[in-house]
Amino acid sequence: MSVCRPKRVSLLAQCVLVASIVIIAMYGLGSVVLAKTPADGSHKKTLDGAQLYDTNCNRCHSERYPTEHTPGEWKTLMIHMRVRANLPPEQAKAILKYLQENAGK
Ligand code: HEC
Repeated sequence: MSVCRPKRVSLLAQCVLVASIVIIAMYGLGSVVLAKTPADGSHKKTLDGAQLYDTNCNRCHSERYPTEHTPGEWKTLMIHMRVRANLPPEQAKAILKYLQENAGK
């Protein structure tokens, strides 16, 4: 009897291990398949400058209207605010582009 027990336990353990590998593999495969077939055919969803501005720039203070600053002022402001908002370069660029295109004179 005592010889049999550890064997049964380890068989169960193996079974659980195999089952979780299968589940993880299926889950992984599922997300790869999903990621490769978005509805609009593009690879990933990218937010435009206005949306990025909405999401990132009103956390600490309310959003300023783009017209409140000139393109030159926005450039300087973004140098400071992109650090505060901890933005990756492409996102900071997109936000700056949006602000400058809609900036005041
Ligand atoms: C982590 C907090 C934080 C985030 C995120 C942040 N800001 Fe600011 N912002 C501040 C603080 C604090 C000030 C005022 C003090 C200063 O100017 O140093 C300020 C000032 C400003 C000002 C000038 C002040 C005024 O009254 O007009 C502008 C414009 C501005 N932020 C734009 C932005 C933009 C654009 C973003 C997004 C990229 C952003 N901020 C994200 C904290 C933040």
